[in-house]
Amino acid sequence: MSDRERGRVIEIRGAASAAEVEAAMVVLDSVLGNVRGWQLSRAQQRELYLATPTLLSIAVDDGRIVGAAGCDGASGIGGVAVLDECRGQGLGRQLLERAEAILRERGADTAGLGSLDGAVAFYLRCGYEAKLLVQFAPEVDDPEPVIADLLAGVLAGRIVDRRDWQGHPQLWLRESSVDWELKRRIEDVAGGVVAQYVMDKRL
Ligand SMILES: CC(C)(COP(=O)(O)OP(=O)(O)OC[C@H]1O[C@@H](n2cnc3c(N)ncnc32)[C@H](O)[C@@H]1OP(=O)(O)O)[C@@H](O)C(=O)NCCC(=O)NCCS
Repeated sequence: MSDRERGRVIEIRGAASAAEVEAAMVVLDSVLGNVRGWQLSRAQQRELYLATPTLLSIAVDDGRIVGAAGCDGASGIGGVAVLDECRGQGLGRQLLERAEAILRERGADTAGLGSLDGAVAFYLRCGYEAKLLVQFAPEVDDPEPVIADLLAGVLAGRIVDRRDWQGHPQLWLRESSVDWELKRRIEDVAGGVVAQYVMDKRL
């Protein structure tokens, strides 16, 4: 029997104190601790939420934080995580919706994030669209021949936008369906090629 069926209501609201932000960070760490993207942005996100706790949405079950979702107040969604034993009850969706509402209130017209592979289906269910982003890790000394291989091979005939981000090339595929086989084939072209679904939603 789910918590809802037992009449137990888990509250979704903004963090209200530094202590709640720190407790939510522990939950985010416990779920996302091994994720490189989380480790890269964790300190910055923590600082932001300590300065403006309401940017961090939390799910509270009888005083215990069981899930959290951050946003940057502009158009980005940060960590979204629900403790394993509390998944499948709509908490992830409610947390995400609160994060989206904060962004909307602040004037954003889209919400976006780079998704873990395992969460892409969750974001699709929550109304997001997916675009495939191809990046090149620092171990790729010269990405240009790899890009040429990709464009002549796996990506031939597809519409690809090339952009530069902080001096690093990126390829964006202009098709919105999720294709795990394509992702695998792109990453197989060379070590250090990383293809990730980036999700966005009009608010
Ligand atoms: C992703 C996550 C936050 C989802 O939380 P949740 O509370 O279980 O999600 P919900 O119950 O609100 O699910 C909302 C919808 O998404 C679907 N969904 C959730 N997780 C899914 C998954 N892994 N695969 C497919 N569908 C999924 C649900 O079935 C539900 O669909 P519905 O519209 O038919 O009801 C949770 O699984 C989690 O913390 N995962 C690990 C961390 C993570 O990957 N975070 C995302 C970082 S980018």
